[in-house]
Parts: sequence; C-alpha cells; structure tokens
Amino acid sequence: MAKVHILDHPLIQHKLTFIRDKNTGSKEFRELVEEVSMLMAYEVTRDFALKDIEIETPVTTTKGQVIAGRKVVIVPILRAGIGMVSGMVNLIPAAKVGHIGLYRDPETLQPVEYYCKLPSDLNERELIVIDPMLATGGSASAAIKFLKDRKVKNIKLVCLLAAPEGIKKVQEEHPDVDIYLAAVDEKLDDHGYIVPGLGDAGDRLFGTK
Ligand code: PRP
Ligand code: URA
Repeated sequence: MAKVHILDHPLIQHKLTFIRDKNTGSKEFRELVEEVSMLMAYEVTRDFALKDIEIETPVTTTKGQVIAGRKVVIVPILRAGIGMVSGMVNLIPAAKVGHIGLYRDPETLQPVEYYCKLPSDLNERELIVIDPMLATGGSASAAIKFLKDRKVKNIKLVCLLAAPEGIKKVQEEHPDVDIYLAAVDEKLDDHGYIVPGLGDAGDRLFGTK
C-alpha cells in the first residue's frame, strides 16, 4: 500500500491556516499556495538519489554530492494545480511541466478531461502530480490512470488538503502512488467540498466565481 505523508512542518501549517481563511484575497492566497508548494517540494524530493562528484573549492579539491536520479516532470491538474507549479519549479528547476485538464462535473462529481500536453520522454522520468484538493479523489485518480496508460511508472501525488474519501480512492486504485499532503480534513459535504477545507481552490486562486 502506498504511503500517505502528512507534512506537518510548522511553516506549512502556519501558511495553510491563512490559505483556509475566507478573508484571504487572491493575491495573498496565490503567494501562500506557492510558498507551501515550495516547502512541500523539499519533502517530496527527500528520496532522490545522490552521486559523488569532485569539485574545487577556492581552497582545495573535495567531493560534493549532486542529484543523480531520474529527471522530473511536474504535472498540474488544471486548473487549480497551476497554483502549485511555480513553488515546485523553484526547487526543481530542471523539471519539465506537463498539463492535464480535468474538471469535476458539479452534478455527478465525475472528472471530465478537456486538455492534455505532456513531454515526450515521460516514461524516463519521475512524475509529480499536483492539485491543491483531493476531495472524492476522482480527478487525481483519473489523472494518474491517464499517465499509467502512457506507461509511466514512478508517480507521486502532492495535494494541500485531502478528505479521507479521496485518500481511500487513490490508495485503492493506485496502491503504488505515494501521497503527500499538508493536512487531512474531516469529511466531504453534500456538494463534494472538503470540510473545513478552503473552498473552491481554482476560484480562490484565479478570482473567479
Ligand atoms: C477541483 C480541484 C481538483 C478537484 C478535486 O477542481 O482542483 O482537481 O476539484 O475534486 P475530486 O477529488 O472530487 O475530483 P475543479 O473540478 O473545481 O476544477 P478547477 O481546478 O478548474 O476549478
Ligand atoms: N475542489 C475544490 O476546489 N474544493 C473542494 O473542497 C473540493 C473540490
């Protein structure tokens, strides 16, 4: 079974409180989502392999370590996933970014695909799928299946908030995918919103409603 990593670092929890607050406007919301995503990237990359290289300091030659493992593709689920891209890319600047467009049908809560643009060397890379919200899990699970259908093997899922229902769905359908979260909330409401949650992540990021 895939692991669920709760990133309960004080800085992440502090910023998350202001992300949740309904009085936080779009500008500050975007900045906070970027900052939390950057902090999460630090933990998500913890298992990256290193290799030794020889370098010269101004004083002598010495060995240093650099990232040795697979290259990365960051895959935001449109639209709200876009809010997490810059924070991730700040820490993993060599990453490519692929996009998957899914929206959740408000009646059925089923994910509907409308866009896909991915790098061609996808299956030589480690994939980090990002979306602020893991609610029913329908969107994340569909995006992961979509990537696996393209023979991708190494996938991690990174979300700010999750409902227990969403975690269960992804774990059942994709037991090989580790999930990284800033917090697990209590439940979903009758409209599939995470409670207490942060509202509609896309609307708050982009000022729509
Ligand atoms: C939100 C969110 C996830 C999805 C989560 O997107 O960004 O993609 O809902 O819900 P689920 O786990 O029940 O599938 P939304 O469909 O609102 O589209 P948007 O990002 O374009 O606003
Ligand atoms: N999508 C959101 O943006 N927020 C939720 O609470 C659930 C799904």
